[in-house]
Amino acid sequence: MSKTEEILKEQTSVKLNDGNVIPQFGFGVFMIEGDDSTEKAVDEALEVGYRHIDTAHAYQNERGVGAAVAKSGIPREDVWITTKLWPSEYGEGKTSEAIDKMLERLGTDHIDLLLLHQQFGDYLGAWKDMERAVRDGRVRSIGLSNFESERLEEVLDAAEIMPGVLQVECHPYYAQHGLKKRIAPYGIAIESWYPLGHGDAGLLAEPVFAELAEKYSKTPAQIILRWHIQEGNIVFPKTTNPKHMADNIDIFDFELTDEEMSRIAELDKGKRFFNVPLEEQERTLGQFVPAD
Ligand SMILES: NC(=O)c1ccc[n+]([C@@H]2O[C@H](COP(=O)([O-])OP(=O)(O)OC[C@H]3O[C@@H](n4cnc5c(N)ncnc54)[C@H](OP(=O)(O)O)[C@@H]3O)[C@@H](O)[C@H]2O)c1
Repeated sequence: MSKTEEILKEQTSVKLNDGNVIPQFGFGVFMIEGDDSTEKAVDEALEVGYRHIDTAHAYQNERGVGAAVAKSGIPREDVWITTKLWPSEYGEGKTSEAIDKMLERLGTDHIDLLLLHQQFGDYLGAWKDMERAVRDGRVRSIGLSNFESERLEEVLDAAEIMPGVLQVECHPYYAQHGLKKRIAPYGIAIESWYPLGHGDAGLLAEPVFAELAEKYSKTPAQIILRWHIQEGNIVFPKTTNPKHMADNIDIFDFELTDEEMSRIAELDKGKRFFNVPLEEQERTLGQFVPAD
């Protein structure tokens, strides 16, 4: 069996609260600039066994994702595509049109998971259109990203279809156990962004990861990604380095013990890498309008 076949066989998945099954491990394309570079990276990722791509309209590379998936020859139902609406696209009627444009850019007839990227703008109006898109088959699952304020409960109260996931900053320095308790009653899964702390050298150099890397003949990054899997997080690190790409997904042939998971939990001291207050995000990010 080739390494890719082995990975495809061993990879884990998560059943969402709507019954859809998402590959637990994927490939994030934030900050991969342009459609050509993205197509190349996703092409390589699919080649080594990734079957879940996380993009967003704001990343301005959905066409690259769609082109790589189409070109791969892998049946569309075997690749999970997540994308995200930007607040400039929120609002009843407006969001539905934005979804049609996304489908065009991705070159597909359905989106597997559609998220509200940010927790400001007319998110309640957008949610209604997302629910319609689930009912008419353009979208399979819907969810939220960055809703950590009381606006999370506002959406949950208004929703007819519960969010399947909540995508937030999550890594060993910020394990999100409080947020997990808040969403547990709704069966919402956590998706980790900045899973490697956005490549933070300090996180990767923590002695506990070096020690476990040595024990399991893995790298510190692989230990962190394995921790995410065992925490139950859905995770999609970004890389354009072929060695990192192959290494990152090669984490399904070993298991951290409970004691090792507890030692990693000691790093959870509430350190976030993205600390911009919501009002400031609304003022600054709110100005951005991604091009079609
Ligand atoms: N919803 C949101 O608001 C939001 C925000 C941020 C991110 N995200 C999503 O989450 C994904 C992941 O987040 P991210 O890309 O910001 O951060 P990340 O995956 O934590 O870190 C990416 C960085 O880590 C490096 N890296 C990757 N694999 C490595 C390895 N094995 N060893 C050492 N360094 C490694 C990469 O460099 P190389 O390329 O050189 O390997 C890159 O600089 C994004 O691509 C996006 O899909 C969502």
